[in-house]
Amino acid sequence: MYKYDTYDQAIVDSRVEEFRDQVKRRLAGQITEDQFKPLRLMNGLYLQLHAYMLRVAVPYGTLDGRQMRMLGHIARKYDRGYGHFTTRQNIQYNWIKLEDAPDILADLATVEMHAIQTSGNCIRNISSDQYAGAAADEVTDPRVWAELLRQWSTFHPEFSYLPRKFKIAVIAADEDRAAMRLHDIGIQLIERDGQLGGRVFVGGGMGRTPMVAPEIKDFITAADLLSYVEACLRVYNRYGRRDNIYKARIKILIHELGADEYRRQVEEEFALVKALGIDPPQAEFDRISAFFAPPAFVADDGVAADRSDPDFAVWLDQNVKPHKQPGYAIVNISLKPTAGIPGDASADQIDLMADLAERYSFDELRVTHAQNIVLPHVRTADLYTVWQALDAAGLAPANLDLISDIIACPGLDYCSLANARSIPIAQKIAERFADLGRQRELGELKLKISGCINACGHHHAGHIGILGVDKKGTENYQLLLGGSGAEDASLARITGPGFDEDGIVDAVEKVTNVYLASREDGERFLDTYRRVGLDPFKEALYG
Ligand code: HEM
Ligand code: SF4
Repeated sequence: MYKYDTYDQAIVDSRVEEFRDQVKRRLAGQITEDQFKPLRLMNGLYLQLHAYMLRVAVPYGTLDGRQMRMLGHIARKYDRGYGHFTTRQNIQYNWIKLEDAPDILADLATVEMHAIQTSGNCIRNISSDQYAGAAADEVTDPRVWAELLRQWSTFHPEFSYLPRKFKIAVIAADEDRAAMRLHDIGIQLIERDGQLGGRVFVGGGMGRTPMVAPEIKDFITAADLLSYVEACLRVYNRYGRRDNIYKARIKILIHELGADEYRRQVEEEFALVKALGIDPPQAEFDRISAFFAPPAFVADDGVAADRSDPDFAVWLDQNVKPHKQPGYAIVNISLKPTAGIPGDASADQIDLMADLAERYSFDELRVTHAQNIVLPHVRTADLYTVWQALDAAGLAPANLDLISDIIACPGLDYCSLANARSIPIAQKIAERFADLGRQRELGELKLKISGCINACGHHHAGHIGILGVDKKGTENYQLLLGGSGAEDASLARITGPGFDEDGIVDAVEKVTNVYLASREDGERFLDTYRRVGLDPFKEALYG
């Protein structure tokens, strides 16, 4: 885990006091809402349908028990007793009072957290693989690079006012657990001829014009990586469409220039940037790496988990993943109970997860981009105890990557931009497929719901995606098929006319039936869709 140094702490503390003064002036009517808006957004405070919403950054999704407990404290003291984990490894609070916001930020600062750059046209929270440091398939810990990029990007003077918000993800495994190619910049760390470096993808994203990022550089050595990213941003900052908010993202620039021309310009800029010497010296890199040294694992005792409790066995098979260290496992905590709100956790649940991390996971937790939580390093011998504690708190749905592990944005229940509700649709679908046996029979199926074209719920990347639209004043839901945010990234296609609230639940059931009737051995829903195409599904839906 990275720890703040005195500079980090001083910056964050002074920002809290600055914001306290701004809020005071706003409350006293000395500044207008229009004047206040950019100031609050710089501190992650949005104004939503019913209240202020605060988005708190969890850098690369990593946090410790103390930080997690503080998130629970904020939920309990300043919100309505829960927090909402998002698709970019942040947490959002939906019921914040303006006068409390400075105190919340002050509380966060005591545990080295903040909400800076969680909004605005700057480089946002750097995201990464939630299994970093634990995954058997990684070539290095990507969080070292995510942390380097975090330090480089926070308050980067040249990139504080980009044409549009900017999102970067770093992974270091072939399996992409961070939707890397759906980011403005996606970096996959790889080893080539014994040398560490990165593949760089630029210009991905969802929203109004979804795109899978093209590869811009097939290999840049680790020693040049930061300079290369700087060059990528400089070209964007210079030529991104500031005149038109709908065309301002880097994906549009690259689409219009073409990947080859963009690459040419980046290479030209890179030659200039490299001469500036911004890549960290080895000593600084080593200093950062030391924060991510592996925890003190103990030797494998060779004892396998006792599978005699059938509920535990199902959870083991579905939610627990292999660890690179023998004798350990990665535990996924699903925040998707059947009737629940995807990504929500109560203050008590947050506290419990903090306790379990401290006792059983070297004090580490991760937030995933699928709105779940991970305990990255749990001893096999402790799995049953951990499961029992989770189960008692409603935190052990054994549905990871199944149809009820739904990603959903807040939609019309909270969001001022929404056209339709997302949460009740997620709940109805989860209820329709409540039987876990049936879900497991369907296998890996990623269902993602957004309440508007902005795609916060990643519907473009859903094996099944649902997009809420406003059709002459009534909520209508479009169905999309065939998206993926993983290493086989693809964008989902709209099947045809949308459905009403109950119709969309039926439609989901129909497409799963087509899958069951046509799948071949070992095929996931997505594989079958890719093999048979859209037509059989359309036939079943509209036939
Ligand atoms: C659970 C809550 C939320 C999550 C998980 C979330 C996450 C995201 C993500 C990941 C995107 C990026 C899509 C892309 O790759 O371009 C996005 C886009 C966007 N979000 Fe959210 N968001 C949430 C709530 C909100 C709220 C409450 C607002 C309203 C202020 C909002 C406003 C937007 C806008 C305007 C975009 C469009 C960006 C664009 O077109 O470039 N989001 N959100
Ligand atoms: S997708 Fe639309 S409705 Fe959903 S949170 Fe984002 S902006 Fe709001």
